[in-house]
Amino acid sequence: MTTRRRALGWLGAVGGLAVLPAAGFAGYLYADTGRSNVGELTFRNRLGIPPLLSPSVAADGVRRFRLTLAEGRTELLPGTTTRTWGANGPILGPTLRARRGDRVAVDVRNDLPETTSLHWHGMHLPARMDGGPHQPIEPGATWRPSWTIEQPAATLWYHPHLHRSTAAHVYRGVAGLFLVNDDPAVRLPEEYGVDDIPLIVQDRKIADDGTLDESDLAFGGLTITGLLGDKILVNGTYDPYVEVVTERIRLRLLNGCNARILYVGFTDDRRFSLVATDAGLLRTPQPLRRLLLSPGERAEVVVEFRGGEAVVLRSFPAPLGTNPIYARLAGGSDTLDLLKMTAATVLRPSAPVPAELTPVAPAPTATRAPPFRLEMGDFLLNGATMDAARIDRVVRAGSVEVWVIVNGQAIPHNFHVHGASFHVLDVDGAPPAVELRGAKDTVYVPPGSAVRLAVRFLDHSDARSPYMFHCHVLAHEDAGMMGQFLTVSAQDEPSVPGILDDSHTAHGG
Ligand code: C2O
Ligand code: CU
Ligand code: CU
Repeated sequence: MTTRRRALGWLGAVGGLAVLPAAGFAGYLYADTGRSNVGELTFRNRLGIPPLLSPSVAADGVRRFRLTLAEGRTELLPGTTTRTWGANGPILGPTLRARRGDRVAVDVRNDLPETTSLHWHGMHLPARMDGGPHQPIEPGATWRPSWTIEQPAATLWYHPHLHRSTAAHVYRGVAGLFLVNDDPAVRLPEEYGVDDIPLIVQDRKIADDGTLDESDLAFGGLTITGLLGDKILVNGTYDPYVEVVTERIRLRLLNGCNARILYVGFTDDRRFSLVATDAGLLRTPQPLRRLLLSPGERAEVVVEFRGGEAVVLRSFPAPLGTNPIYARLAGGSDTLDLLKMTAATVLRPSAPVPAELTPVAPAPTATRAPPFRLEMGDFLLNGATMDAARIDRVVRAGSVEVWVIVNGQAIPHNFHVHGASFHVLDVDGAPPAVELRGAKDTVYVPPGSAVRLAVRFLDHSDARSPYMFHCHVLAHEDAGMMGQFLTVSAQDEPSVPGILDDSHTAHGG
């Protein structure tokens, strides 16, 4: 690993990919087997579980959560302190939870030294509550979105989304989960932190003195997707273990990395049941041994344990679907242990995973033709860079459209759309992999591939506040691989502006 670092330093010094003699570069890559932390960890730290945040309930029934974003200090590597950012604590943030039908409000106070925003990734809500680049929160200000929970049970998350600052703000530690519950409850493990365990997986580069290394947050040269760290944090805990006390546990996995694409499985190759993707439960559980999760994606899996056993959750070399050189540069040959899971000698019994999870309707059919084609190339979307004043698409509220996302580069990208959820219709004409058959909001778009989506847009109509769509590799997003769309009703359509102004900043005081 040290050798690799030195090599990267040298390559960086001579200006990166373009000026390298091809043979020398190929030699370097073939000598390199990727990063690994296998054998380096002792799994000595108990996994932190983000606390559940209780709302206050007002007379009108609104459940109000309070989040304060601030700087803090965290002991990540033993004996050192790291300056981190968090919500209601030094790193990450509490888990918010609400039921379908709840009216919720969040007071988001920004005590950080920089303007930021807080986006509810995957949440179905009006665009002006979405927390994207059009809802900045200045230092000292409080932003107060409110909405009604109107979607099926799902594992959602929140994170900053200020254009050009998203990578840094997420990397420093602002992120948390927002769990949506629904009726009727399916019988899955649901004791939070006990047999229903959130796993926010993030990679970091941390110097020996504890400093967070931010040097590769933006892409450039050999850094084709932005920062790839060799220190794994799960829920903000480095070198973690968790004790399993029930026969079955549900893991809510979030890839909270800036750039790293995880390929998750167990070191003994055991099977697990995929029960939910980004936007909710699958119709039936799907047995898997590996699961690809690109940045921003979530998955819920149920794993079985026998008393007394231990196993490590690992990210294996990932099939990124690009050439070997780019695969390595994007972290695709890395092997990283994430978490050790140790089962108690005697486990509490758990109900079996139900054969039917939810009656998901088949993928919706489009109500508008032709499909919207979105080409990812040269770190642009359809040849354009993000412009907060430009609207790239106008859709009808409540409609379904086919969107075709094409990755024209050898570089890995993924695609996330706000204010909607989607089903993957096909990837290069072939039926999607098992893990892509549920409702989603973020999907990996392999190099050279076209991913066809049936996107269902929300009913909220707003002719002035756009939703975003973008690559969720944060360095790419910050560099401009992002576009904006408006969701409007027939009635609102005539008032769609040519240009937007930015008048929604939450100011200090
Ligand atoms: Cu998780 Cu537009 O973001
Ligand atoms: Cu989002
Ligand atoms: Cu990208």
